Amino acid sequence: MSKLIAWIDERIPMTKTWNIHLAQYPAPKNFNFWYLFGVLAMLVLVNQILTGIWLTMNYVPSADGAFASVEYIMRDVDYGWLLRYMHSTGASAFFVVVYLHMLRGMMYGSYQKPRELLWVFGMLIFLVLMAEAFMGYLLPWGQMSYWGAQVIISLFGAIPVIGDDLTLWIRGDYVISGATLNRFFALHVIALPLVLVILVFLHIVALHEVGSNNPEGINIKKPKGSIPEEEKPKFKFHERFTKKYDIVDAFPFFPYYVVKDLVGIGIFLFFFCYVIFFAPAMGGLFLEPPNFEPANPLKTPDHIAPVWYFTPFYAILRAVPEKLLGVILMFGSIAALFVLPWLDRAKVRSIRYRSGFHKVNLAIFVVSFVALGYLGLKPATEVYTFFARVFTFLYFAFFVLLFFYSKNENTKPVPERITK
Ligand code: HEM
Repeated sequence: MSKLIAWIDERIPMTKTWNIHLAQYPAPKNFNFWYLFGVLAMLVLVNQILTGIWLTMNYVPSADGAFASVEYIMRDVDYGWLLRYMHSTGASAFFVVVYLHMLRGMMYGSYQKPRELLWVFGMLIFLVLMAEAFMGYLLPWGQMSYWGAQVIISLFGAIPVIGDDLTLWIRGDYVISGATLNRFFALHVIALPLVLVILVFLHIVALHEVGSNNPEGINIKKPKGSIPEEEKPKFKFHERFTKKYDIVDAFPFFPYYVVKDLVGIGIFLFFFCYVIFFAPAMGGLFLEPPNFEPANPLKTPDHIAPVWYFTPFYAILRAVPEKLLGVILMFGSIAALFVLPWLDRAKVRSIRYRSGFHKVNLAIFVVSFVALGYLGLKPATEVYTFFARVFTFLYFAFFVLLFFYSKNENTKPVPERITK
């Protein structure tokens, strides 16, 4: 065995990669529950790719065949129902874990220097993930697939000058048709998953270049020689990390965090399986009732709402009476997250050491996001629209306020070492 490993190592850096990224990678010792979601996102990504491949084996990407082929998968293909529910539940689970993963980053200032690029890769992942989910949703060719796509694609029509040509180009037809379905299928099954996998790879490369942040938001790398020998962890970390620095308060990722993550993965799978087996439609949230009817271009459903993970942004869009401004604000709400590392100018990272004002600001942001998500599911009545405007205002206020107060924020002293 050792000869085989040596043979491989002479040809590709297998052991070295294993050591740098797992067995001798220093992970801060105070990771908590919030640090699980990155691994869970990877797990869900693998689930989506695998179940997607098997669904594709029986799915027919044409306007005539798509809906019936999904019914066929559900009824006749062995375990087809399981594959489909794993995939549809996986889509929602993806957004649950990614939203929590992003919130963790916001709480612990993980986007701040030197992790800006890591955050930007994360945001690119988020964008591609939204495109991936949107295109996947057209594939079952149900009523909501059709009309949801109709509403979202027509948004591009609001762009001055090129709007109409752009919508035509996206659809590949004057209406949503088999041509649209074909291209969405191609993008959904190969192009975007490929981009996602590459982006996740770059995300991890960037993370391992700068090292993980942690709930205290302090460095586990200290200048060489600044720590007495007996205070250093007794673990062996790769020389890549120890050449210039002393590593303190860390464990090797393997086996310590691998084992810890396995516990979290077990708990996650418990909930995931519960939904798959007992509530796959999740009361209409994960699979919407109109989508059990085949697409009908002549019959608009009474109430069109995107799937729950898009509704915060959809609510922002609808909150504005002018279509173009609504589209700008909707994209602006995502763009603001992109530039978060440069809006937040605070000297400390973790929420634990930040001002009360910041804590309240972040809490209001989270409440606004959830409230917008709820409002986006509801019809645009006068009362709901009023609240959507209030929460849209609060959503953007978070970023504007943050930019101004963070520079001279009244933060608490940060400890030298991780003690809790
Ligand atoms: C497919 C989606 C994603 C996958 C598979 C993924 C994977 C990971 C993994 C495995 C980690 C290390 C473990 C952890 O800290 O949880 C991580 C860290 C991180 N991710 Fe992601 N991620 C994804 C999406 C995102 C998004 C959308 C953002 C934000 C825009 C983001 C921002 C971050 C940040 C800032 C860190 C470092 C956190 C810290 O060290 O405190 N990630 N990611």
